[in-house]
Amino acid sequence: MKALILYDSLGGNTEKVAKRIHSALVEGGVQAELIKVAEDTELDLYDYDLLFLGSPVIAWGPTNTMRDFVMKKLRAYHKEKIQPSAPLRPGKFAVSFCTYSGTHIGEDEAIPLTKWFSSFLGHLGCQVMCEWNIVGEFHNIEEPNINGRLGDIRGRPNEHDLLDVENRVKGLLAGLAAWMA
Ligand SMILES: Cc1cc2nc3c(=O)[nH]c(=O)nc-3n(C[C@H](O)[C@H](O)[C@H](O)COP(=O)(O)O)c2cc1C
Repeated sequence: MKALILYDSLGGNTEKVAKRIHSALVEGGVQAELIKVAEDTELDLYDYDLLFLGSPVIAWGPTNTMRDFVMKKLRAYHKEKIQPSAPLRPGKFAVSFCTYSGTHIGEDEAIPLTKWFSSFLGHLGCQVMCEWNIVGEFHNIEEPNINGRLGDIRGRPNEHDLLDVENRVKGLLAGLAAWMA
């Protein structure tokens, strides 16, 4: 099984999560690539069996770089690979993830983004296994990260959050054991 963790991160929170996913995959015996998306990122997502797509939540959506990448791929694959009914491709799995602060309305600020990723991944024919919304402190704001809907989120994602991510990866791999050849 070949995995890709493709992510964006403006302040480092999502990068911490992406790196922990990567190390947990490698520890689990999976060949995994960790790539931060850039304007010139060229990848064939169909080269991988297990895709992780992640971004910080920026105004309920992805970063501009991640949005541009996803839309570029959607346009390219629409020509030949994305079919009506989006038939599942055997052995192709995916996970959507994000980090978010939820300052105003909590996790409802993250759900649109992971659903958006899942919609894209589902169009590709992947079975989306999980959507992970991980709390991340809001950098560079005057508010001290204690008054939002999620309370005190200073320093998050912290080691506890990252251990949770690691455990989720282990659980996912156990669930995919039949495909782990
Ligand atoms: C410009 C900007 C807009 C943001 N908008 C939201 C938002 O709409 N909802 C939310 O929950 N968090 C929002 N956040 C907080 C980030 O999603 C959160 O801090 C995330 O963990 C940052 O990840 P990063 O360090 O990988 O960039 C925003 C942060 C920035 C900088």
